[in-house]
Amino acid sequence: MDIINIGILTLSDRASSGLYEDKATPVIEMLLKSYIKNDIVFHKILIADEYKKIIKTLKFLSDKKHCDLIITSGGTGPALRDVTPEATKAVCKKILPGFGELMRKESLKYVPTAILSRQVAGIRKKSLILNLPGNPKAIKECLEPVFPAIAYCIDLIGGAFIQANEEVIKVFRPKK
Ligand code: MTE
Repeated sequence: MDIINIGILTLSDRASSGLYEDKATPVIEMLLKSYIKNDIVFHKILIADEYKKIIKTLKFLSDKKHCDLIITSGGTGPALRDVTPEATKAVCKKILPGFGELMRKESLKYVPTAILSRQVAGIRKKSLILNLPGNPKAIKECLEPVFPAIAYCIDLIGGAFIQANEEVIKVFRPKK
């Protein structure tokens, strides 16, 4: 089984300055461990909502750490300091609008403020970058509906082969 490299980039002014506990990173790690059977190497980074720092870190995770998947959390809303989608778009060659569309559609079942998240997904080199909101509950509500398409997306960009833990979640790969 391939080893999967996953970047978890958490954006939070308060958590990165120690004013607030980072609750997002452990939730993302726990969910991915439950969804994926392969051994995973996690590259976890917590930084403030700074456009240039986000760009530098996304490039580092994709180009130097060769992450198959990079999940960001936080900074997707309308506030002045929310710049994660802009930084993601700046480093990606292709944007996959379906991810954001599905996450907002599913999230609307839980909160009317789901439309405030501008979350996007895109491809940089052999990495799929996916934005999630920062709220731990929102992380699961967004990741679960899109995960079934993530494995095949990573196949298509030449990344590692993800084996899903079928007792927890099913992924979809079209028959050739
Ligand atoms: N999506 C889900 N599933 N659940 C939520 O609670 N919160 C929304 C939205 N998406 C939410 C959600 C709110 S209130 C905001 S402001 C935006 O995500 C942006 O969150 P972020 O700035 O932490 O990225």
